[in-house]
Amino acid sequence: MITQHTIDKVFETARVEEVIGDFVQLKKAGSNFKGLSPFVNEKSPSFMVSPVKQIWKDFSSGKGGNAISFIMEHEHYTYPEAIRYLAKKYNIEIDETEQSDEQKVQASERESMYLVSEYARNYFHDVLLNTQKGKAIGLSYFKERGFTDETIKKFELGYALDEWSAFTDAALKKGYQLDFLEKTGLTIVKENQSDPTQSKKFDRFKGRVLFPIHSMAGRVLGFGGRILTSDKKAAKYLNSPESELYHKSKVLYGIFNAKQSIAKKDNCYLVEGYTDVISFYQRGIHNVVASSGTALTSDQIRLINRLTPNITVLFDGDAAGLRASIRGIDLILEQGMNVKVVMFPDGEDPDSFAKKNSLEKLEAYLDANAQDFIRFKVSILMDEVKDDPVKKAGLIRDIVATISKIPNQIQREIYVQECAKIMDISERVLFSELAQLSKNEEREASKRPKDDRQESFTVVKTEAVAFKKTDQLNKLEKQLIEILLLYGNKEIDFEDYVEVEDEEGRTKLVKENYQNKIASEIYLHLQDDEIEFSNATFKKIYFDVIHQLNQDEKITSDGFINHEDPELGRVVTDILMDDEKYALSDWESKEIYVRTKEKSLSKLVMDAILNLRRILIELKIKELIEETPDDDRHSMLEMIVNYTKLKKLLYDRLNRVV
Ligand code: CTP
Ligand code: MN
Repeated sequence: MITQHTIDKVFETARVEEVIGDFVQLKKAGSNFKGLSPFVNEKSPSFMVSPVKQIWKDFSSGKGGNAISFIMEHEHYTYPEAIRYLAKKYNIEIDETEQSDEQKVQASERESMYLVSEYARNYFHDVLLNTQKGKAIGLSYFKERGFTDETIKKFELGYALDEWSAFTDAALKKGYQLDFLEKTGLTIVKENQSDPTQSKKFDRFKGRVLFPIHSMAGRVLGFGGRILTSDKKAAKYLNSPESELYHKSKVLYGIFNAKQSIAKKDNCYLVEGYTDVISFYQRGIHNVVASSGTALTSDQIRLINRLTPNITVLFDGDAAGLRASIRGIDLILEQGMNVKVVMFPDGEDPDSFAKKNSLEKLEAYLDANAQDFIRFKVSILMDEVKDDPVKKAGLIRDIVATISKIPNQIQREIYVQECAKIMDISERVLFSELAQLSKNEEREASKRPKDDRQESFTVVKTEAVAFKKTDQLNKLEKQLIEILLLYGNKEIDFEDYVEVEDEEGRTKLVKENYQNKIASEIYLHLQDDEIEFSNATFKKIYFDVIHQLNQDEKITSDGFINHEDPELGRVVTDILMDDEKYALSDWESKEIYVRTKEKSLSKLVMDAILNLRRILIELKIKELIEETPDDDRHSMLEMIVNYTKLKKLLYDRLNRVV
């Protein structure tokens, strides 16, 4: 683990405007910077960076946070990956805490495998660009295929010399251990049983051009190696074997270069091969990944789903395996994603088509030929069954099974209607087939010992009643936190009503004026009533604010923005940036807005506190009614009467403050 010391140092050093400036063009706007959102396509800026507060907010997508969270959002990095990125940018040395021996071995084994793989990538890339044979054989092959220097660098393509152990020898000489060369599959070791020192070592990718395969974060997981001869016996592609790093079913070729474009275009093109990805990219379509010739897996779909719910699958013109590929697509539907398909003309694949056509033509072709998947499937299969009624019945079941995978009911119904038209059968038949299928599934489900789905459904139902109240509660708690963070340090005039007894012993309310710091005032009231926040995040913020108040009598929000809990950071950034929204337009209302908000601050504070009490009392009464056992009704009624009196008092005070 990275030490807290290093993390603190990164937070101290990183400037949000510099970090974001590497990705977004920022323009000064008052005390802030503004720019175009990197998360959506837009023409007028809605992205705001505050150097003073060290936070950013994207008003288009609602995202926001500090420098770390920007890197996490933009690069799709995990927290430690983001820390490492920033440490590198600012030349901060990374300290790591002690791990258990087992953890150490495991972590260092993976890390060693990464290091070997990254060395191999650099080595093969260097051979391709800077050696005689590399240039004559590997580079000229890529050039032949039309790849530019820039593309070759972008995809870090390489070449392995056609020698038995050129790479292995070089790696060993550099001090990399044979163990990791073997575990990553870069080296194949042929044991010599009688004399282990005579074991033979071979380079797996000997004589092939290489396509490094990257993780989402850009680390090298493995390689695909293409043969250059037309040897019919040898496989065209040789890939890294399954290992601790490389799981074929969990990687998508090209995802590292494509991720930003996928998120921004809100769509992902899915092709089959390495060269399809590269040719599309070079032509200017960057949101493209390859399943590398295998049927798509749910892990791969999940990878895409982190970036967009929309997939467009591209099929070769002569797709022999079209029917097989179609099956895999049901998996995509199951995850609630929207699937379109594009067929290329006969004899063309995405690679050849992208090479022959300009970007405009390619984009126009994709737009014009993108078909909804289910419609596509129906039309392809209808061609096959023609007028054979038995086959047609099978097809109907097949299509209905596909439709049943779609989680959204409205969408399912739309498809039923459409497919009925295309297949020329009544909607009723399809609906009853669909109902039959769900009935079967239900029966299957009820056979299982316990169905969590049904259980959670009943929970939702009883909670629905209480929901509205807790929703109000949440809003009020948020409002109090907002007031604390934005105005907590301010001293203002308060006006309150205190109960006094007159000579005859009757209580009456008397108005009282006094000055207090807003945070102290809120604290006093909540403490009086022993009120706790119900929302865990607000509760954490509240405790911290009160702690600060008691310690140094001044509240700052720095600690929250850089908090390890990203939810906390998000909530606080939202609150702090809310005012800045008005600075995005040149509209003068910012002034007016803030002024009116501050003028009525004392009323705002008192209203929030009184309303919070009122709702808590209402919830208390409800709880009493629901949870008191029958034989205890009498004392319950008494308590309810008391609470109701209290509630009435609160309403009176609320009205008076108004
Ligand atoms: N593939 C593989 N092993 C093979 C053949 C194919 O792993 N023996 C994978 C590769 O990821 C390849 C993809 O399937 O990129 C698609 O195969 P294919 O269309 O045959 O290759 P292309 O990528 O089109 O390569 P090229 O254009 O060089 O023929
Ligand atoms: Mn191909």
